[in-house]
Amino acid sequence: MRVVVPKETAPGERRVALVPETISKLAAGGYELRVERDAGAAAGFLDESYAEAGAELVERSALYEGAQVVARVAPPSADEVAALASGTLLIGFLHPLTDPEGIARLRERGVLAFAMESIPRITRAQSMDALSSQATVAGYKAVLLAANSVQKLFPMLMTAAGTIAPVRALVIGAGVAGLQAIATARRLGAVVSAFDVRPAVREQVESLGASFLDLGVTGEETAGGYATELTPDQQAQQQAALEERIPDFDVVITTAAIPGRPAPRLIPVSAVERMRPGSVIVDVAAETGGNCEVTVPGEVVEHGGVVVIGTTNLPSLMAFHASQLYSRNVAALLQHLAPGGELALDWEDEITRETCVTRPEGGS
Ligand code: NAI
Repeated sequence: MRVVVPKETAPGERRVALVPETISKLAAGGYELRVERDAGAAAGFLDESYAEAGAELVERSALYEGAQVVARVAPPSADEVAALASGTLLIGFLHPLTDPEGIARLRERGVLAFAMESIPRITRAQSMDALSSQATVAGYKAVLLAANSVQKLFPMLMTAAGTIAPVRALVIGAGVAGLQAIATARRLGAVVSAFDVRPAVREQVESLGASFLDLGVTGEETAGGYATELTPDQQAQQQAALEERIPDFDVVITTAAIPGRPAPRLIPVSAVERMRPGSVIVDVAAETGGNCEVTVPGEVVEHGGVVVIGTTNLPSLMAFHASQLYSRNVAALLQHLAPGGELALDWEDEITRETCVTRPEGGS
């Protein structure tokens, strides 16, 4: 089974779908690997390492010849979809809930497409859970961006010149990214508080040494472990409570998200205006519109002396480890769908059924 790995074409995307470590495992397990030249360069994986791992390096013009599987990070462009033969198995982040046009293009082309963001959050699929692996990297990086911008030292320091108080950090949304942000901020020495609408999170927050900030709003949790959207009243209540509490913090990391929906608006301009100058907000939800009203996705802006970081695609800024983790997720899914290089799709299987977003009519 021929598996190809293109160099990513989305602007700013530094990650690569398969790294040499995974390539050598797949090459030993019944797959033939073709990697586009320079595909891993931006993430620190050189062509020589791919060749040593058993991949054939090819130019883009020859990449898709005979390709049975394409492993990617970001969704393919329209031109890339046109280069795929009907029946090609495609694995990648395909934005099934937010990019109906892209999905329609894959369907029209007869692509057998599996979206990494649709992997069910069940124990059996944990090794494939790319949302979690990439959110872990994003949560870590968000804290480093904050530490780099804030005008204060994170830890408490007792020096000859006297004592310095630690940074007070607030993490809003304590899912995978938020929990990693809490752990990272704690390691740097901040005093951390966190809030989430899912009540189950309180214990996880406290087990990381942070305190749970009670904003008096409790939401629902779906069977899949996700939060449901708050009612407009609850949302207003949350904004008002946050506005009261936010001046206490030097750093705010927001990661609140509802799958397939725009990011919930948690921090209105009026709350930003109550923060001390020199404080920092890192809006990890910027990609889906942002949790903060001041956020400009993809940009760093200043409002009344408060820095609001809306940098998108944080995992791509730590492309080496983000790619390494993602690559293991992709390989685990590929081995599930086509063990030993033989396509064996079982539509009764929850992982296969839930993750597939398009399939050729009458095929597979
Ligand atoms: P996500 O990225 O969809 O959302 C991030 C966080 O924002 C969530 O914790 C959510 O509750 C919170 N949120 C939503 N609206 C909010 C609001 N208005 N205010 C404050 N917070 C708000 O979620 P993520 O990180 O992908 O994780 C979702 C769940 O899946 C978690 O319970 C996680 O523990 C669970 N999970 C389960 C796995 C498994 O294999 N069993 C693997 C990975 C995650």
